[in-house]
Amino acid sequence: MNSNSYGKYLGITSFGESHGPVIGVVIEDVKPGIKFPMEEIQKELDARKPGNKEFSSSRKEEDKIVILSGVFNGITTGMPICLIVNNKDIRTKDYDDLKNLFRPGHADFTYFKKFKIYDYRGGGRASGRETIARVAASGLVNDLLKDINIRLYPVQIGKFIVKSIDFSFKNDLSWYDQNNYKELLSYLTDIQKKGDSVGGTVEVKIENLPEGLGDPVFEKLDANLAKAILSIGAVKGIEFGNGFGFAGLTGSEANDQMNKKGFLSNRCGGILGGISTGQKLTFRFVVKPTPSINIPQKTITRENKEIIFKSGGRHDTCIIPRILPVAKSMIKLVLADALNHQKLIAGKKLDLSDYREAINKIDEDILTGLVRRKEISKLIGQYKKEHNLQIEDKKREKELLKNLIKKAQIWNIDKNLVEKIWLTIISESKKNQ
Ligand SMILES: Cc1cc2nc3c(=O)[nH]c(=O)nc-3n(C[C@H](O)[C@H](O)[C@H](O)COP(=O)(O)O)c2cc1C
Repeated sequence: MNSNSYGKYLGITSFGESHGPVIGVVIEDVKPGIKFPMEEIQKELDARKPGNKEFSSSRKEEDKIVILSGVFNGITTGMPICLIVNNKDIRTKDYDDLKNLFRPGHADFTYFKKFKIYDYRGGGRASGRETIARVAASGLVNDLLKDINIRLYPVQIGKFIVKSIDFSFKNDLSWYDQNNYKELLSYLTDIQKKGDSVGGTVEVKIENLPEGLGDPVFEKLDANLAKAILSIGAVKGIEFGNGFGFAGLTGSEANDQMNKKGFLSNRCGGILGGISTGQKLTFRFVVKPTPSINIPQKTITRENKEIIFKSGGRHDTCIIPRILPVAKSMIKLVLADALNHQKLIAGKKLDLSDYREAINKIDEDILTGLVRRKEISKLIGQYKKEHNLQIEDKKREKELLKNLIKKAQIWNIDKNLVEKIWLTIISESKKNQ
């Protein structure tokens, strides 16, 4: 399971722990000859980092990007690009007490149950610092998305709700309602003093998106955006267009009617059947209150002993301002995949390098499939040994081949070729068993 990797056309692999030496990302399939957008990426990392926003953790990190490979004289070479930022403000002592307990609201319990070992310092891999990798990588698709405008801002923080939006009202929280901003600040100061935290809801509006982005069934644009956004720590829900509000509407109230000029409303949020309609794409997602709070709470130790825990480390009163650049990065990565795929389907502006890129991907997918098949064959071999079952099963082999040949006929592929490939694969798999 490549759970630390993401993306189809721009493959990224994120690595590093909160209190390890670095957080980093390897980015593959970036075209050669592109100016590496160092300044843009650094600007986006600065927006994400702790300690530079009101009500954010006092951990002081420079988060200065270091390029280890794939860029020569400021230009991409087409080789894997490895970017890192150093973790500097590491106060591992702050986390010494956490060795043995599961912090409420954190991933400690599940990581321990799953892996039996984990880096508990600052949340390890489940830390918000992991998102540096996503923000850094997404800078490489800025050029592709230059005509698309992505705007994100909170519409609710704790009990406060945005009622009127004025985008010219600039502040650290990206809170665009002047009327209740001061009250919100004093509410957050109060929450901070109490050692507590709050969450909220973020609204996203994407303008100038072409129609036709996204694919049927498992590659729906809304499904891919939902997965990307929900992969961000502390994000707990997402809704497109009218979202959960659809529950109370009738069909005649919910449908977006059309005339010859286009849609008469946009309740679906700019996506129908997983494919963009060309209207403004709108969705909202909810962020839970920061789990680390300076308030005593009940929990248990690894030995199942009940204890009272109060977080002593540094944390954000509200994580939303820091999640905004991360969510924008994930949206950019999803849109880059969808745009690149659409370029291939629509057959527009394709050159040899586009075709080669597609072929490279397919070859890579075949190899990945082979590696996974070998791994699974090995596991089957182990299982059969443990259960005293015969390793070779000629009947099943025949059945598998018969099914493949049936499919080959449907797809009009030479059945001898399929048989030859399959026999090679199976003899390779048997070497592992
Ligand atoms: C950018 C970012 C910063 C975060 N900062 C903190 C923090 O300072 N303190 C904290 O307790 N959780 C923080 N979190 C949230 C935790 O990482 C997250 O809630 C935890 O790993 C449990 O995962 P879950 O909430 O998705 O179930 C942050 C998340 C992100 C994305």
